[in-house]
Amino acid sequence: MDAFKPFECEESGQVGHVRPSWWWTVHFRRNRHREWHIPWDEAASLDAVERRRIARSIAEFQRGESSEARCYLALSEGFSGRTGDPEFHHTSQLFVHEENGHSELLGRFMRLAGISQIGGSWGDRVFRALRGLGDIGWASRVLMIAELIAQDYYPALREATDHPVLRRICDKIIFDEAAHIRFQVERIVRVEASLGSIAVFGRRAAQTVLMAGAAAIVLVGHRHVLRRHPGARAFIASALARNRRALDLIDALRRGGDALPEAQTRRPSLV
Ligand SMILES: [Fe+2]
Ligand SMILES: [Fe+2]
Repeated sequence: MDAFKPFECEESGQVGHVRPSWWWTVHFRRNRHREWHIPWDEAASLDAVERRRIARSIAEFQRGESSEARCYLALSEGFSGRTGDPEFHHTSQLFVHEENGHSELLGRFMRLAGISQIGGSWGDRVFRALRGLGDIGWASRVLMIAELIAQDYYPALREATDHPVLRRICDKIIFDEAAHIRFQVERIVRVEASLGSIAVFGRRAAQTVLMAGAAAIVLVGHRHVLRRHPGARAFIASALARNRRALDLIDALRRGGDALPEAQTRRPSLV
């Protein structure tokens, strides 16, 4: 399984290229079977201080990861139909399924630790509404904000707890979300290929504003998790820097990226 490395471009510092839908189908299917050895049987308890620090925060992220993403999937299905690429939509379904898997893992941990689930927060409702304000490219940009924030939130959550189950769940989600950033970047490049440079510049500006607002809201709402590690300033700085790198990667891929390696013009076997 490890022979199929998803992010060799990032490791080598290269821009890479936009990969075909089947590449992501293979990635999500293989990732589903990756074994993370979560120690469910280790009966560590959550002390009162730790519970106060993380319970509400986990419940909100668990709820956010549970979205059925109906609007996003409808947009994806439309794009698939218009471009004659059914696998594009299939990959969207696999992506949403992977997000829902994060919700299930967090939910199972919450039951183990006696933490109650919550209904939707206003931030969650705003985030879902924003996704529906444009095409699949805009929806992917809004989703990517969550992927980028996850790259700072879950390491902070991991630092905020000693519970071995939750720490291992964080490891898995951090790994998955890193791939989701690249997934969204490539999709944005593909579905916004027909947009002119002024329209793309407008979206870049809108995404920057959205990221700044989202990072501030997450910082306030999850300050008990974030304030010790990485700390407020570092969290905001890191979120904005991640967003800038993702936007620069979109620009670089729009300009053509790197040449497609011969090995990635052929679909690998799933067995
Ligand atoms: Fe997720
Ligand atoms: Fe994600």
